[in-house]
Amino acid sequence: MSEKVNIAILGATGNVGRMFLRILEERNFPIKNLKLLSSEKSAGSKVKFQGKEYTVELATKDSFKDVDIVLASAGGTISKELVPHAVKAGAVIIDNSSAYRMDNDVPLVVAGVNNDALKNHKGIIANPNCTTAQLVPALKVLNELAGLKRVVISTYQSVSGAGKAAIDELSEQSKDHLSKGSYSSNSTNRKFAFNVVPHIDVFSDDGYTKEEIKVILESRKILSLPDLRITCTAVRVPVYTGHSESVNVELNNSTTVKQITDAFSKDPLIEIVDDPTNSKYPMAIDVADKDPVYIGRIRKDNSNPNTFNMWIVADNLRIGAALNAVRIAEVLVKENLVKAKVN
Ligand SMILES: NC(=O)c1ccc[n+]([C@@H]2O[C@H](COP(=O)([O-])OP(=O)(O)OC[C@H]3O[C@@H](n4cnc5c(N)ncnc54)[C@H](OP(=O)(O)O)[C@@H]3O)[C@@H](O)[C@H]2O)c1
Repeated sequence: MSEKVNIAILGATGNVGRMFLRILEERNFPIKNLKLLSSEKSAGSKVKFQGKEYTVELATKDSFKDVDIVLASAGGTISKELVPHAVKAGAVIIDNSSAYRMDNDVPLVVAGVNNDALKNHKGIIANPNCTTAQLVPALKVLNELAGLKRVVISTYQSVSGAGKAAIDELSEQSKDHLSKGSYSSNSTNRKFAFNVVPHIDVFSDDGYTKEEIKVILESRKILSLPDLRITCTAVRVPVYTGHSESVNVELNNSTTVKQITDAFSKDPLIEIVDDPTNSKYPMAIDVADKDPVYIGRIRKDNSNPNTFNMWIVADNLRIGAALNAVRIAEVLVKENLVKAKVN
């Protein structure tokens, strides 16, 4: 990548925003100018990037002049409000919120899974929900190997998926529970410490949460399988970083654990950790700050033909958000898809 681009990070002081900065630095992304945007709360604060100090600015509709790529992670409401202004200013927005993911003319992309969708972008590219992002690399491989018939997912999601405030809440709740034997919380589904909560995002009329619906609809869109039979139960667990998923996949054609493992091993996004006799399997505590999607516990489901169980774990702030967005930005630059703005 030789071209340098002007980057703005909308939500630069949040969990995902700070991870953007780390990943841009790690990957030596070709940045000409960098703009860091936040709410009034953090505007004016100082952030170091590549040895230089930057002052965080208040995000407004006028923040996007001369910006080539906006990495947005300030939540759906802010994206709805500010992204149209960024598009109008000529920037390409890679949005981490759910605001535009299911829009027909917005590509929903996991880099390395459906890069082709980027070619048709009209200024907005959506990054999927973190739970979907670590699931679809595996589903794509399985679909190519033997055809997906039905997928059943149960998630075990870390609190960092709920923003930086949730990390502090888990710490405070844990301290209170250990010192006083109890803790208080403003809402039932934020009783994180020493608990397992089957409620992420709001409930819809059919009894599913929005988080579960996101996994279902976003997986279908990314894989271009609109009729895929897929269901999900999304659960919050008291873990700081790393989402885990128990995935049961029924396939159309017969295959073996070995063939599945071999196919996964060839995928650059996936790393196999599957040696149960030596207690080797992916665990959330081991994946923080790592790039791959880890898969283990691959085994036949003896209750149903052509069906397999597996355990998928990844750093939700990396492949689930910031790393995927930066990888998308790299493809845009490499394939000259940052419309007319790259010098
Ligand atoms: N965490 C994950 O695993 C994950 C994965 C995929 C997608 N996402 C999505 O990414 C987004 C951010 O998540 P997060 O975990 O980084 O949240 P977070 O830690 O709560 O950070 C939110 C960021 O948005 C900024 N912000 C809030 N209100 C704003 C406003 N009115 N104008 C401008 N900036 C504003 C905050 O700035 P202040 O510092 O000023 O408050 C902060 O920088 C959400 O849409 C989330 O769904 C998160």
